[in-house]
Amino acid sequence: MDGSKEMGVGVGLRNVSSHCSISEMDDYDLSRLLDKPRLNIERQRSFDERSLSELSIGLARGGLDNFESTCSPGGRSGFETPASSARNSFEPHPMVADAWEALRRSLVYFRGQPVGTIAAVDHASEEVLNYDQVFVRDFVPSALAFLMNGEPDIVKNFLLKTLYLQGWEKRIDRFKLGEGAMPASFKVLHDPIRKTDTLIADFGESAIGRVAPVDSGFWWIILLRAYTKSTGDLTLAETSDCQKGMKLILTLCLSEGFDTFPTLLCADGCSMIDRRMGVYGYPIEIQALFFMALRCALAMLKPDTEGKEFIERIVKRLHALSYHMRSYFWLDFQQLNDIYRYKTEEYSHTAVNKFNVIPDSIPEWVFDFMPTRGGYFIGNVSPARMDFRWFALGNCVAIMSSLATPEQSMAIMDLLESRWEELVGEMPLKISYPAIESHEWRIVTGCDPKNTRWSYHNGGSWPVLLWLLTAACIKTGRPQIARRAIELAENRLLKDNWPEYYDGKTGRYIGKQARKYQTWSIAGYLVAKMMLEDPSHLGMISLEEDKQMKPALKRSSSWTC
Ligand code: GLC
Repeated sequence: MDGSKEMGVGVGLRNVSSHCSISEMDDYDLSRLLDKPRLNIERQRSFDERSLSELSIGLARGGLDNFESTCSPGGRSGFETPASSARNSFEPHPMVADAWEALRRSLVYFRGQPVGTIAAVDHASEEVLNYDQVFVRDFVPSALAFLMNGEPDIVKNFLLKTLYLQGWEKRIDRFKLGEGAMPASFKVLHDPIRKTDTLIADFGESAIGRVAPVDSGFWWIILLRAYTKSTGDLTLAETSDCQKGMKLILTLCLSEGFDTFPTLLCADGCSMIDRRMGVYGYPIEIQALFFMALRCALAMLKPDTEGKEFIERIVKRLHALSYHMRSYFWLDFQQLNDIYRYKTEEYSHTAVNKFNVIPDSIPEWVFDFMPTRGGYFIGNVSPARMDFRWFALGNCVAIMSSLATPEQSMAIMDLLESRWEELVGEMPLKISYPAIESHEWRIVTGCDPKNTRWSYHNGGSWPVLLWLLTAACIKTGRPQIARRAIELAENRLLKDNWPEYYDGKTGRYIGKQARKYQTWSIAGYLVAKMMLEDPSHLGMISLEEDKQMKPALKRSSSWTC
């Protein structure tokens, strides 16, 4: 980059001049950051202009024909939005109006201000459990829907409320949790007599199984960036409170320990799959969110003395993480064949089979499942363990965050197309594939009656995943895949009262214990529709590829590197 364009310290969200070339406009340049002190990378371009360039690169590559080259901060594209109807000659799907009404019914207020959406407004359900709470992860599609519809205030309120909750002292019995932990969910208690509102939050100390919401902090950072990009309002992310909140989350996940891998070690049930499902270790969902949150934080951290240290650590971690994920989590036909022929018990640096995976541990199903063209990030990799299952959220986030290379992103879409029956079936989208059954189910889930085969987290189909699929489709220039999936959802969702999940091999049955009017099923649908209608919305939730990370990828196409 031309030195004359460098600005020095002081600007929180890094800026690049609008007249520099596309390659100069990279979100960040990892290798340069590693070599040089961080002060040199300030560039004169607004956060919003950067988003535009990111978007146009992505879409140009994908060859999207209906992309408008204007990013619309605060632009409306949902129901009752003049901008949207003016752009399209067709009427919005009748479901869209119902969805907006249902979404608004789920709003939660604190002292008169909307601060989030309740997980499910299901009056028919006998057991409320914690579905009457605002879940951080569940609120993400709601937030995106509001942002895309030009209603950012609720998102700002949510970000500030959860930031405030982060400051609470968190304990489980006599054990104090990490300072940076964000809640899984919170609730507002209204006292009509005293006319007071009180917040209560759950950081895992009340959750079934006492599971840790590792994903909450990552979603919080990702949402802060989405808010900033969508509104162009840099002031929120720049406040010392938000800067501190980010740093506390980063301190938790960048701390040094005994790790030999750059991936983040987690207990079971640490994210959307919040029950024991054999996702302990290094689950793809967390790794992809970790990567995305690191990249978002990098764009928002102020390069002051403390900030600079974090930035340096992030840059190093991103390098190592992307290399590790792209090399060892990636599975395609070639890779599978290589693993199948592995030698074991290799010692020293020359080992090809680094984690000593025993070929006999490869499950039978994966040989038939793997198409000649296509691939995906597998569920988990650790010593002598590869979880070959497909997990939708992690793979979609890998595409959105550019953890997946463009080739890998295309391969994931190829896989989705060629395994449509298995991964989409009658209701998008399978949370994981395949289901665990019989003896394996007993051992892996601890005989969990909620997670029986092809139900819930164990091969169930979750409509909320539609927005992630749609984002991945637009990013890879294949919106027609999303259209197909949305059509399937439109056949059933409203009629079935917006279930939380569907069961069965093809997702044909409303889930055994699925809530109705599940908010993220509703919001996920709206976000998918709005993104397809106006693909520029993708910019708030997607990150362009960093070219500097590419050389590592080339080498990583083979396990032997
Ligand atoms: C279930 C899901 C979890 C979700 C929560 C609220 O526990 O597994 O991902 O956040 O319900 O909808």
